[in-house]
Amino acid sequence: MDTLTLPRPDDWHLHLRDGALMQAVAPQAAAAFARAIIMPNLKPPVTTVAEAAAYRQRIFAALPEGSSFEPLMTLYLTDNTPPAEVERAVASGLVHAVKLYPAGATTHSDAGVTDLLLCYDTLAAMEDHGLPLLIHGERTDPGLDIFEREAAFIDDVLLPLLDRHPRLRVVLEHVSTAAGAELVTGDDPRLAGTFTPQHLLYSRNDLLVGGLSPHRYCMPVLKRESDREALLAAATSGHPRVFLGTDSAPHPRSAKESGCCAAGCYSSPVALALYAEAFEAAGALERLADFAGRNGPAFYGLPINGETVTLERAAQEVPSAYPGGEEPVVPLRAGGTLGWRVRQP
Ligand code: NCD
Ligand code: ZN
Repeated sequence: MDTLTLPRPDDWHLHLRDGALMQAVAPQAAAAFARAIIMPNLKPPVTTVAEAAAYRQRIFAALPEGSSFEPLMTLYLTDNTPPAEVERAVASGLVHAVKLYPAGATTHSDAGVTDLLLCYDTLAAMEDHGLPLLIHGERTDPGLDIFEREAAFIDDVLLPLLDRHPRLRVVLEHVSTAAGAELVTGDDPRLAGTFTPQHLLYSRNDLLVGGLSPHRYCMPVLKRESDREALLAAATSGHPRVFLGTDSAPHPRSAKESGCCAAGCYSSPVALALYAEAFEAAGALERLADFAGRNGPAFYGLPINGETVTLERAAQEVPSAYPGGEEPVVPLRAGGTLGWRVRQP
């Protein structure tokens, strides 16, 4: 197979940031994807519908003239998010999900939830309206090994949450372990999972062996090779509730190439080609269209995009960096090559 045509894909997990960095990266996301679920972890976080609406306008202002990119906004859940905010979110038509960051789990998560029991009424309102909860699934207890965070979250937090809220719809974001892959490919219709290019292509060896690769450092941290294999099997399984979420999370180069490297991989311009590479390695290229273009809209109750894109087999060099506003941003596969590229109309 040397070409592959799919519905124009959507990105169900994207960080667009704000200000000059957003001006630089939003056009790249809009060139690659029709719609994206926009993460709310700005500083300060997007916790209200009014803030989400204002952020959405800033995103539109950063897009090229004539872009049809649609930002699907989310709210950042805090210990104090009132149920009334869920009502406003649903009424707005602009907010498509609420994001749970356990406090301290990742970049800009200090305003996150300390105890989900504090959110009981708000989660109950989300159940009533079918508004999905998007989960950064890591426990952050100081004594817990960082490689065990996701599995511990599933057992200690996620499964009890699903018991307490039997109608809650949940997306486990950026699944990073075999345990997570097994959970989201089960038969629970409330549960879906997003998969990033880095977790499908790289393991912790790629992060750590032969020197530390800061541009592959993200949360949840890359796991062992057996986890990567399980993730790739899940993403390419044809399961209806697994879909594309890049977690493209740009940071200025100096924040990545630093004594304390910021977590997040920038991937918008290269993501689709990286997914094609991963799916091809699994012998499952024909399943990429569902993963990238159909399963996400089905879960979110949105139409499949009418337009298509065609990927063609052709070597493409990845720049060593892209302009990022004040500083360059370094993408996944910087300075390397991709075997697929999107055919330009
Ligand atoms: C993300 C970011 O930089 O905002 N970082 C990351 O490592 N993935 C936050 C997140 O999704 O965890
Ligand atoms: Zn993210």
